[in-house]
Amino acid sequence: MAMKSFILLIPILIVIFVGTQAEAQLPPTTAGASFNISGIVLCSTDSSVYNVATPTPPFPNATVQLLCDGNVIASTTTSESGGFSFLVRLQATLTTVLASCKVDVVTPLSACNATLPSTSPSLEASLRATIQSSVTTSKIITSPFQVMGSL
Ligand SMILES: *[C@@H]1O[C@H](CO)[C@@H](O)[C@H](O)[C@H]1NC(C)=O
Ligand SMILES: *[C@@H]1O[C@H](CO)[C@@H](O)[C@H](O)[C@H]1NC(C)=O
Ligand SMILES: *[C@@H]1O[C@H](CO)[C@@H](O)[C@H](O)[C@H]1NC(C)=O
Repeated sequence: MAMKSFILLIPILIVIFVGTQAEAQLPPTTAGASFNISGIVLCSTDSSVYNVATPTPPFPNATVQLLCDGNVIASTTTSESGGFSFLVRLQATLTTVLASCKVDVVTPLSACNATLPSTSPSLEASLRATIQSSVTTSKIITSPFQVMGSL
């Protein structure tokens, strides 16, 4: 029994090692790299607060913008489950993108719950790196969305 668990552990360790290697190769050294930036917008002033018993509903149909150095780079709308993704090509390294870009939700929170604030833009999130999904595209996810100004 003990022997079996030891053997099972080896492939897991290899997977972790390969994952770390892929991450260590970032940021891309050539200019003009592809980035897939994705996240989920919830109908809440702070998505980092998650209650298992009463899960926060998603924020569907919300306009979200990708901003880098304060300039709007791309715009899209959240799905029924609050999900969105931007596929962009930028003359920047992953490090620069993580440091200078953020995602804003333009639609007021009152659109998904009338008791929430009607200010626009309503929510903001910074970017987090994830493991590279392919050789050519860096996959990035957003941090939990929070009301503007709390970053
Ligand atoms: C970007 O990432 C999201 C989330 O993983 C995925 O659903 C979407 O298909 C990706 N887009 C492209 C063009 O690869
Ligand atoms: C999403 O927005 C569009 C355009 O504003 C509207 O026609 C549609 O009914 C909305 N869908 C939902 C599910 O709110
Ligand atoms: C709307 O927001 C209020 C205040 O955060 C919350 O108590 C309520 O449960 C929300 N309603 C829905 C349907 O999510």
